[in-house]
Amino acid sequence: MTTTAITNIASLVTNDPSLCADSPLGLIRDAAVVIEGDRVVWTGESSKAPATDNAVDAGGRAAIPGFVDSHSHLLFAGDRTEEFNARMSGRPYSAGGIRTTVAATRAATDDELSANVARYLAEALRQGTTTFETKSGYGLTVEDEARALRIAAQHTEEVTYLGAHIVSPDYADDPAGYVDLVTGAMLDACAPYARWVDVFCEKGAFDGDQARAILTAGRAKGLHPRVHANQLGHGPGVQLAVELDAASADHCTHLTDADVDALAQGNTVATLLPGAEFSTRATWPDARRILDAGATVALSTDCNPGSSFTSSMPFCIALAVRDMGMTPDEALWSATAGGAAALRRTDIGRITPGARADLVLLDAPSHVHLAYRPGVPLVHAVWQHGERVL
Ligand code: NIG
Ligand code: FE
Repeated sequence: MTTTAITNIASLVTNDPSLCADSPLGLIRDAAVVIEGDRVVWTGESSKAPATDNAVDAGGRAAIPGFVDSHSHLLFAGDRTEEFNARMSGRPYSAGGIRTTVAATRAATDDELSANVARYLAEALRQGTTTFETKSGYGLTVEDEARALRIAAQHTEEVTYLGAHIVSPDYADDPAGYVDLVTGAMLDACAPYARWVDVFCEKGAFDGDQARAILTAGRAKGLHPRVHANQLGHGPGVQLAVELDAASADHCTHLTDADVDALAQGNTVATLLPGAEFSTRATWPDARRILDAGATVALSTDCNPGSSFTSSMPFCIALAVRDMGMTPDEALWSATAGGAAALRRTDIGRITPGARADLVLLDAPSHVHLAYRPGVPLVHAVWQHGERVL
């Protein structure tokens, strides 16, 4: 197998804390990375790099692990421009807008849905994302949820069943009947395509008991839980997520001290989605409070046409640093290794021997520029599975 060295990296974020005592980022200056096949096989100082078949000069740029976007909703059709316009003139966000996207998604062909996913994936890749999770939730019938997941599985291995996004409009008068469907025939049809089961545990969507029933049923079918929790207000979602050992509690915008304690003591990652607070003009999640309690934080886009229509991890990093109390180092870690933790993965989100060779060169001398130069397209080159794709 051929080996390729990327040399002359001004600063390399490895996310291997053993390499650097004072930073969990495991920063190496004047670094090189050697790739063989789809794996990283060596990292260290450029001057000590082993001989390789090929070499690429990074030109004094910074290198970081490819972003791991652990929360997106890409299986949809249409958009909600009018809703966004109305919101920017004062109308509050409500999850009711999901119904607009459900109607458009049901009306779309398989090819249209697949092309939409490919389009947003390409957009994300240009901004440095090399792994992404995505979910169903805009079909809400057995057939529409299963086809969304079938299409999702053609694009990523991180697929989440979210039949419990809202109660389907077809079951408006029978929410209990919809929970039976989501835990019964719909789950049976969807489970073969998915790795995860998710529920929107929120007033107006599913309460704690319904969420528990949905996550437990998913688990019995081999799906691992993750939860949309505490986005629009306080509620049972976060503590339920920790109790069920969900990989992630997502949003975490409205937390009590007991919620924060639960996150700090459990194995559930708090995934913060600042694009949603930005686009809905909501209160920012308090990342500082969660980090200071000792919990693990991931950052993700939540890319969806309603609450957060961005595929940009650099944008989320800039928001997290500016408005959520994170340092640039913490935000970078959360957008890479944190996302990997939220997907219970150790093969991505770091640049260390044995990891998947997913890495990004920035047109900047340091990863700090991602927050320092918001809105500037800093991604210079991307390797994914060891292939240079940009
Ligand atoms: O994560 N919270 C629920 N689901 C999405 C919003 C979906 C929509 O508005 O279309 C979210 O923010
Ligand atoms: Fe979401």
